[in-house]
Amino acid sequence: MGGEFTGGILVIDLGGQYTHLISRRFRELGVYTSVVPYKSVDRTIILRSKALVLSGSPLSVSELEEVELKKFSELILGSNKPILGICFGHQLLAKLFGGTIEKKREFGRTEIKIVKRDPIFDGWNEFEHVWMSHNECVTSLSSLGEVLALTENECVAAFKVFHEGNVIYGVQFHPEVKHTVKGSQLLENFLKITGAERNWSLGNYVEYVTKEMMKEVGTNDKALIAVSGGVDSTVSALIAKRVFKDKLIAVFVNHGLLREGEVEEVLSNLRSLGIEPLYVNAEDRFLKLLEGVSDCEERRKLIGEEFVRIFKELIENDPEIKYFIQGTTYPDVIESGVVSGSRKIKTHHNVGGIPSWFKIKILEPLKYLYKDEVREVGKLLGIPEALLKRHPFPGPGLAVRIVGKFTKEKLEIVRKASKIVEDTLREYNLHDSVWQAFAVVGDDMWVGVKGDERDQGYILTIRIVESSDGMTADWARIPHEVLDIMSRRITSSLSKVTTVTYAITSKPPSTIEPC
Ligand code: XMP
Repeated sequence: MGGEFTGGILVIDLGGQYTHLISRRFRELGVYTSVVPYKSVDRTIILRSKALVLSGSPLSVSELEEVELKKFSELILGSNKPILGICFGHQLLAKLFGGTIEKKREFGRTEIKIVKRDPIFDGWNEFEHVWMSHNECVTSLSSLGEVLALTENECVAAFKVFHEGNVIYGVQFHPEVKHTVKGSQLLENFLKITGAERNWSLGNYVEYVTKEMMKEVGTNDKALIAVSGGVDSTVSALIAKRVFKDKLIAVFVNHGLLREGEVEEVLSNLRSLGIEPLYVNAEDRFLKLLEGVSDCEERRKLIGEEFVRIFKELIENDPEIKYFIQGTTYPDVIESGVVSGSRKIKTHHNVGGIPSWFKIKILEPLKYLYKDEVREVGKLLGIPEALLKRHPFPGPGLAVRIVGKFTKEKLEIVRKASKIVEDTLREYNLHDSVWQAFAVVGDDMWVGVKGDERDQGYILTIRIVESSDGMTADWARIPHEVLDIMSRRITSSLSKVTTVTYAITSKPPSTIEPC
């Protein structure tokens, strides 16, 4: 899509753990935000924005080299925009304006005193509680700056500078975190001060993205979309249908790596929404390719390429198909390392994994949205609650839940055990409160005893996590009785499993899927 949002907030990502939270909070206030890693920021991106926000960072301002500071100075101070620096961003701005930074740690709930009234603190009392997380702080400013708030340790909690007609603020604390009681108020005050446009609503988004796509496509153009029954591809298909109408071809490929009963469920859900998918049963093709492959990334690559080969075959048979629609969301783009500066964790085959030989124009109607925003859009478009509540399921399906050699035997174990895990959670009303729940199997064996006989079988791991966006996650504290029931059901119905374990590591340091 050619058009981009203008007039919003550009969040410059300096590596802080709360960067996306900052962006989310501004969106909740009705402003479009883009998050761009520092190294990818350029004049064009800056010009499109109304104001800049500098995030936190694991870096230390005192250790920054002169050349790095010079680069920051040119880019940020030369931007001619209002700026809000948060935590590291605050220290960086103070340093650029000649302030002093010293080692002083403040963590957690901290009281600050407002020493100078300013519109940024409208609605704040003289003393307020904020959330701090820093090892260094600004202890003095040059004559250019004005201190607005202090902490008990004499750290500058907030300051203001006027620079070439623009107002620049720094806050040492994190207004984006709920523990900063009036954090949202401060962000709202910043929006008022900058005059950023409050035109971000999900209803507007659907209209915007539909119009953008309509501008680009010709009246007879057809588009192909791969649907999986998941929220992202279903919402993408409903948006694309507004644009392409009966010229949208939705394809549902069964790669043989789906969950039990999934084919029937997906087909019936899509039909109820007015989408009649073309069903391609490619089980044999995929399973033949994967048999015996041990390396996870290799498997993802094989699956991704085979998908694309199927799409290519369909496109070659119909020259009117000019577009391919992908349900890429905002964090997908970032986590797949497509945006420079972010690291690739796993090749999510649906993002950045399209081989160069697949020559077709790509449309990504969700690429500006966070996952929960996609759900909201889905609700607006009339998707039933039950479908919106489905757990995310990876494109490469059960293949990423098999560790070590890929075999049909392990695939069947994972499929059956996952069904037990999900059904048991439903039975105990726990399914909707977790992000994902599934079973994993590897090559490790455990000696068991069946009757009086020695037995040998697989170790099966149950993974149940809580998360809000899949970028971080924690293992779910499922009651022991429920885990016990799952374990018994799995070992009694799967003779090849002798032992069941529960994965109790968060992401990071682990990831959600094992492979
Ligand atoms: P990880 O395992 O990276 O997963 O912590 C984060 C979220 O992404 C899903 N996931 C994938 N989704 N293609 C997808 O479409 C993939 O290759 C893929 N790998 C992981 C995972 O289920 C979790 O929700």
